[in-house]
Amino acid sequence: MSHHFIKFSDVSFTYPDGHRALKNISFTVTHGEKVALLGLNGSGKSTLLLQTNGLLMPSAGEVNIGDVPLSRQTLKIIRRSVGMVFQNPDDMLFMPTIFDDVAFGPRNMGLPENEVKRRTESALEEVGLSDVAGKAAFQLSGGQRRSAAIAAVLSMEPDILVLDEPSANLDPLARRNLINLLKSFSHTVIIATHDFSLAKELCPRAILLSDGELKADGATSEIIKSFRY
Ligand SMILES: Nc1ncnc2c1ncn2[C@@H]1O[C@H](COP(=O)(O)OP(=O)(O)OP(=O)(O)O)[C@@H](O)[C@H]1O
Ligand SMILES: [Mg+2]
Repeated sequence: MSHHFIKFSDVSFTYPDGHRALKNISFTVTHGEKVALLGLNGSGKSTLLLQTNGLLMPSAGEVNIGDVPLSRQTLKIIRRSVGMVFQNPDDMLFMPTIFDDVAFGPRNMGLPENEVKRRTESALEEVGLSDVAGKAAFQLSGGQRRSAAIAAVLSMEPDILVLDEPSANLDPLARRNLINLLKSFSHTVIIATHDFSLAKELCPRAILLSDGELKADGATSEIIKSFRY
């Protein structure tokens, strides 16, 4: 299953206003690995994650998802294998009901409606939102919206899960459920997080960013020990 790896080769990214948010980033995440992406606010975590499925394209360097190099031509294939949960869940919830939000991806993939229903119900169940499936996103709490955004990605059954601050706003029970859910996910996972205990529990390996540079790549417990605010 070598096709589930993520490889960044000398990736730099400059925003249109000239801000150089990523500087010569190289790393490989192999199939089935769980990696935490750590760093202060503004260090470049979200910018990096957005290049794993081409929402942002590198200004220089190359991103490969398995054997597929990221380019405008390969976006469709790459987005099928990389499921991304954004930092702000409201960016992912725009349908009349939560059910439709979670069903959106599978429907968009052209799956038959009974399969769409199966996947949607199962994803909602996994994040504990079956009871509110008929509500709209604006009727949910912040933590519930985050769980719904996670369900909207799980329903696509991605090979690689990319999560940006997934435990933010979750209560201890929802956070524990999320950790257990991610533990049971056998594919590749990258998680940008400020939640060190979640990082330590889930991810043997961490990558530390500082001002757009990759400062460390190694054992999560060691990197957290040496992390300075
Ligand atoms: N659209 C944008 N245009 C210009 N600069 C941006 C843009 N988005 C982010 N930046 C800048 O790029 C840098 C990296 O931002 P990014 O959002 O990747 O950080 P982060 O590590 O995810 O931070 P946080 O922990 O707060 O989520 C920051 O200096 C930020 O101000
Ligand atoms: Mg961020």
